[in-house]
Amino acid sequence: MCGIVGYLGNQEAFPLLIKGLKRLEYRGYDSAGIAVLSEDGNLKHHRRKGKVDDLLEHMSGSVPTGNLGIGHTRWATHGPPNDINAHPHLSGNGQLALIHNGIIENYNALKETLTNRGHAFYSDTDTEVLVHLIEEIMQKSQGLDLFEATRVALNEVIGAYAIAVIDTSNPNEMVLARKSSPLVIGIGDGEYFIASDATPIIEYTKNVVYLEDEEVARISLADGLKIRTASNHRVTPIVTELEMAIETIEKGGYEHFMLKEIHEQPRSIADCLRGRLRLGHESIRMAGIDDHKEMWTKANRLIIVACGTSWHAGLIAEYMFEDFARVPVEVEYASEFRYRNPVIGEGDILIAISQSGETADTLAAIRMAKEKGAHVFGICNVVGSSISRESHSGAYTHAGPEIGVASTKAFTAQLAVLALVAIRVGRLRQVLDEQRFNRLLVELNGIPEKVEALMSKEPELETIAEEFKGSTNALFLGRGYNFPVALEGALKLKEISYIHAEGYPAAEMKHGPIALIDENMPVFFVATQDAHYDKVVSNIQEVKARGGRIIAIVTAGDKEVANMAEFVIEVHKTDDALVPLLSTIPFQLLSYHMAVKLDRNVDQPRNLAKSVTVE
Ligand code: G6P
Repeated sequence: MCGIVGYLGNQEAFPLLIKGLKRLEYRGYDSAGIAVLSEDGNLKHHRRKGKVDDLLEHMSGSVPTGNLGIGHTRWATHGPPNDINAHPHLSGNGQLALIHNGIIENYNALKETLTNRGHAFYSDTDTEVLVHLIEEIMQKSQGLDLFEATRVALNEVIGAYAIAVIDTSNPNEMVLARKSSPLVIGIGDGEYFIASDATPIIEYTKNVVYLEDEEVARISLADGLKIRTASNHRVTPIVTELEMAIETIEKGGYEHFMLKEIHEQPRSIADCLRGRLRLGHESIRMAGIDDHKEMWTKANRLIIVACGTSWHAGLIAEYMFEDFARVPVEVEYASEFRYRNPVIGEGDILIAISQSGETADTLAAIRMAKEKGAHVFGICNVVGSSISRESHSGAYTHAGPEIGVASTKAFTAQLAVLALVAIRVGRLRQVLDEQRFNRLLVELNGIPEKVEALMSKEPELETIAEEFKGSTNALFLGRGYNFPVALEGALKLKEISYIHAEGYPAAEMKHGPIALIDENMPVFFVATQDAHYDKVVSNIQEVKARGGRIIAIVTAGDKEVANMAEFVIEVHKTDDALVPLLSTIPFQLLSYHMAVKLDRNVDQPRNLAKSVTVE
């Protein structure tokens, strides 16, 4: 949520900032802005409602010069998306420029105090208050430099932030700070690249420092990188090496990142299984479990917390853990869980699932669970992310960067990791016998190939999208392992096509949604041949009897449902628990083509953001 970039070095900052902002635009895209400072202290400041391209158009070819600059792409929290609320924000005297991702919760109180002291504010944002606060501290203390003043100011702030500040009186320095919102510093040869995540940095350097919570950093051409905690303790920066490859963050010939990411799934699932699923050795190797065997064997309960698509992965995992490991499982929305007073303690394992590893609610939930004595196992896609660093143990999904706002390959990679964990724990707890364990390994190993085969269904899904693109509502139904797939199918459709869609357990349809069914309502069923097949067939009959239009995902060779449905999409047979890895793919392709046909912005749907770092 909100993207931050910055540059300090010997190159022109402006082109680097624009390129970086475009890479980060998936984090928020309702306005954009930059501030560039030249060697002689001349600050150029431009902001615009809309995308980075709107900003460039507004600047109509003017290119600010200078080797120090900051840039921001916004996802509005305080105040509507407009030019005035766009970042960077300036201090009252115009000397400081600041960009911010996060929320200053006590901004109202701070604003009132500063207003009483004569500060005038132009925007509705919490961010403008922060830059005035730093200015006030610099002026009053007469001697505190930007670094110290920022540190002191942040001690008065409640909330979440990643910030970058520059001062016109010092064109060779930038000050940064973070609390609960990510910030990465790329270390080049006599130059520094700042960003909310590593995607804008990777093409310049692989050496990065992840700023930790409550740390304030100064980068200076004269003195390098210095970090102190907000309470003024010195911190030695730890440089880590990025493993990301530049191709993974480019479209590679596809029209949209989402389509590229859908098509990457055979590879991303294989990457996720590689080295873990050891078919020849008939074993699963996962350090996060192998190092804590006793804990997983004796666990009283698993609590899964997540948001959005990751929460749907958690729901599927609930069925897996119950089936394979016979352990009680609760799946919770992180945002609800964190504000309850849940009964947690030793013997509970909290599994946090997050693509970005930065979702504010999920992060808060794991902190609470840690305080109460639970072991936290993180499943994240972004290497080095906050959740991965704050978990006791965990597993990366290795799906590679996911840029499209609608999650696709990260979801299936989460399912693959969760399947590995559930199967491994099932064996540890002696629920799965050797035969079933080995059969599951073989099935899991065959998933990438079956996903690849599904890609050939794209033309059929395009036809279905054409047929139903005029719909205003849609229903997605499934049972058992495929109930969460129905939820995910509905979420995908609504988030990128803006067609109202609801997912339901198929049997629950009778308790309300059935009232909506008429000859205009497309009803998407997952009706694969699993334990619930006959029941789902009955549900299809009920919809058909009321004139609903039926589109069904079925197991290859199915005749019964094919006779009832207007359209069917076949998926290969696999173990019931692994079907979601297949049945979810047609829904991704359907939503994608529906959104394209409706001329929606597929990769950046309105009002959404990829990484939700505010609660
Ligand atoms: C946002 C994204 C979703 C994602 C959710 C949770 O809403 O648009 O795609 O599922 O956040 O994000 P996480 O990074 O924690 O998986």
